[in-house]
Amino acid sequence: MKLLFVFTIILISNIACSQKNDKKTTQATSIHVGGSCEGCEAIHESPVSFDSLTNVLWLPGWNDQGRKLEVNGVVYKADGTPAPNVIIYVYHTDQTGVYPTKGDEKGWGKRHGYLRGWMKTNEKGEYKFFTLRPAAYPGRKDPEHIHVTIKEPDKNEYWIDEYVFDDDPLLTDKQRKNLEDRGGSGILKVKNAENMLKAERNIYLGKNIPDYPKV
Ligand SMILES: [Fe+2]
Repeated sequence: MKLLFVFTIILISNIACSQKNDKKTTQATSIHVGGSCEGCEAIHESPVSFDSLTNVLWLPGWNDQGRKLEVNGVVYKADGTPAPNVIIYVYHTDQTGVYPTKGDEKGWGKRHGYLRGWMKTNEKGEYKFFTLRPAAYPGRKDPEHIHVTIKEPDKNEYWIDEYVFDDDPLLTDKQRKNLEDRGGSGILKVKNAENMLKAERNIYLGKNIPDYPKV
């Protein structure tokens, strides 16, 4: 029974983490950037319209037990200026390393779980989210991570490097070498502050993104 439970978790983890490798694509605009991506279309499952999103997000579970984490940053256009109105979708595992569901999820929520949320950068390109630092998949060597998909106003959605943690022992040298630096580094250097962890990640639109228009 225990073996079956572990197998099920591994299967779920594999399913939820297959963002990079699937052949499916979403054709939202005339120019498709970012290559293939399974599940990136989940960015369109925001419970409110993109217009109503703000640049600050509290993910579900913020008040649960766990390591509270604040992540903030600025999204920059390829020309170096701040990028307003960029939609950012994030999702991650819970404190046991699984993508938790409550049973009433629809669409990609069935696989991404309910620990997910949406933001939109403000006029200064800023975004910020509050959540609990996720746990790594149980029994696996994958580092702790937060998946992230972005959508610029005039482009289709695409994935960028996951948020990972510089102090995570599972983030080995080999793991680091395999990172693609899409949108810039996703490695968070967390600092302890006011009973929570804080980290910063700026996102550079177009960086190492296939078929991204040259400026
Ligand atoms: Fe994952």
